[in-house]
Amino acid sequence: MCGIVGYLGKRNSLLILLEGLKRLEYRGYDSCGIVLSNNEEIYLYKKVGKVSELEKEVKNKNLDGNIGLGHTRWATHGGINENNAHPHYDCSQNIFLIHNGIIENYQELKEKLKKKNHNFYSETDSEVFAHLIEEYYKNNDFENSVLKALKEIRGNFAFVIFNKKEKDKLIGARFSSPLILGLGKEEYILASDPSPISLITKNVVYLDDGDMVVVDKNKGVKIFSFLNEKEKPLVIYQINWQIDDIKKENYEHYMIKEIEEEPKAVFNTFYKRLNFERLETNLKELNEIKEKLKNIEKIVLTACGTAYYACLYGRYLFEEYLNLNSEAEIASELRYRNYPYNEKTLLIVISQSGETIDTLEALKIAKKRNVLIIGIINVPGSSITRLVDKVIYTQAGPELAVASTKAFLAQITSLIILMIYLAEIKGINLKNKKQIFEEIKIIPEKIKEIINRKEEIKKLAEDLICFKNFYFLGRKFQYPIALEGALKLKEIAYLHSEAYPAGEMKHGPIALIDENFPVFILAPKDSVYEKTISNLEEIKARKGKIILISDEAFEKADYVLKIPKSLEIFYPFLTVVPLHLFAYYFAKILGREIDRPRNLAKSVTVE
Ligand code: M6R
Repeated sequence: MCGIVGYLGKRNSLLILLEGLKRLEYRGYDSCGIVLSNNEEIYLYKKVGKVSELEKEVKNKNLDGNIGLGHTRWATHGGINENNAHPHYDCSQNIFLIHNGIIENYQELKEKLKKKNHNFYSETDSEVFAHLIEEYYKNNDFENSVLKALKEIRGNFAFVIFNKKEKDKLIGARFSSPLILGLGKEEYILASDPSPISLITKNVVYLDDGDMVVVDKNKGVKIFSFLNEKEKPLVIYQINWQIDDIKKENYEHYMIKEIEEEPKAVFNTFYKRLNFERLETNLKELNEIKEKLKNIEKIVLTACGTAYYACLYGRYLFEEYLNLNSEAEIASELRYRNYPYNEKTLLIVISQSGETIDTLEALKIAKKRNVLIIGIINVPGSSITRLVDKVIYTQAGPELAVASTKAFLAQITSLIILMIYLAEIKGINLKNKKQIFEEIKIIPEKIKEIINRKEEIKKLAEDLICFKNFYFLGRKFQYPIALEGALKLKEIAYLHSEAYPAGEMKHGPIALIDENFPVFILAPKDSVYEKTISNLEEIKARKGKIILISDEAFEKADYVLKIPKSLEIFYPFLTVVPLHLFAYYFAKILGREIDRPRNLAKSVTVE
């Protein structure tokens, strides 16, 4: 949570900070702020609300500064107000910093610092760090004072810091919160993700946990560990995200743009990894662990939110096709369990951002126990990609709306490819292999067909707009999709929506059904179609309003959203798209903040 960006170079940092913050706004949007400095002045502006509000305020002020910091906040410690907004500073107003994360021992440090006459103006943990640096800065060694302060704090953090007295220098540090350094020509940028960095360069250095970076206009860049003080070599990567991928273009919201990109996300994820002539996979990224994978007898999948629903899908997939013992576990639970991993367990972690703290922590625990780990991740170079044994990158491109859509489709595409790969190396004769290859090739077109009928889904949202509660039901491969449909509606429309395995209804939830309770039933013609239709009958008998998503018509449904025919494992690609569109239009009619729903952030990096 929280997006941070710091710049040092030859340009006026103002535009880079504002544009960078807009790109990071998905990480938090309660309040924002910037500080920039030229040789004489410090300009500090904070605002409750969006970056566009801050932009309006500073636009005509002729601010100028070759060094600057920007922050967009998702509040943890302290309410949403300008005092608590970042950048934060010390008593002397020399040290300015931006922070993403939580300093767990901030209260204790604050008490100590108060006794040494430091005055605090905010309720945040972040401000404490500025005073802590100030306390050590008495010897006038900026770098060393940051180092000492870093050694005293506990928690997770990414910081970018500058000192009014040493304006040629920017210092960054990270532990469990993301921070990437961009290396331009005589200019540097530090940010939470690659999107602001792509404004000035494609050359990046991914900082590791425990790294401190000192960027000096005259001396260049130095990276070392603040844990053991050893210097590290600069390992430079190229980012492949295009600026256009990040633009909203003519779309009103990122969410609808990203739904429309779903066919492309699926296609880009599979096309280089499947050989359609030989009916084989081409998963080079797993070559080095091939031998270990052959011996796997159990698969555990873990993630949070929408990515967890992809895990559930994966569980059904691996059980069905590989006959492998498979479990899907919510990462925030898994991390606190004493899970019985053994040397034949494969852990798959799924994450769009690659930064979700619970997923990261669950993976760290498994890593300590030498479990083999594959990540299915969208953001290149993100924290999770740096810890797993191997990564399968989903090729969804940047996903900026808080509600995850295209990433989910890319995740389940990756799981299908991985399933085929595991069958190949384990010598499992895959049932209907040819059909799977044929179907995956045309699934993007089928998704497009549904997107082209978006007006129909919009109309359905208009018809149902008076309802405040929704159920979503599905069996087997459709159960994760029911969960996804309910979560999307909750997240962006703020409606009460719940999902159940269709067969569970009669064990309790059906008690709520009457003519005022609409129920989405996901019943494509798969192996459990008849069973799900029986559940539909039970709801109809209690006068529930039914919205059926299926490739079969059924006269007892109040609405039918028709999808193209497919194979059982591909139907989720087709049933999820109308649910994404439905949530979008429902929220739009209600006038919700679609891309930045209240209380949420895209990347959940605090517990
Ligand atoms: O970046 P991740 O995929 O790890 O994020 C996991 C969840 O936080 C995320 O899917 C969340 O549930 C979305 N807002 C769902 O739309």
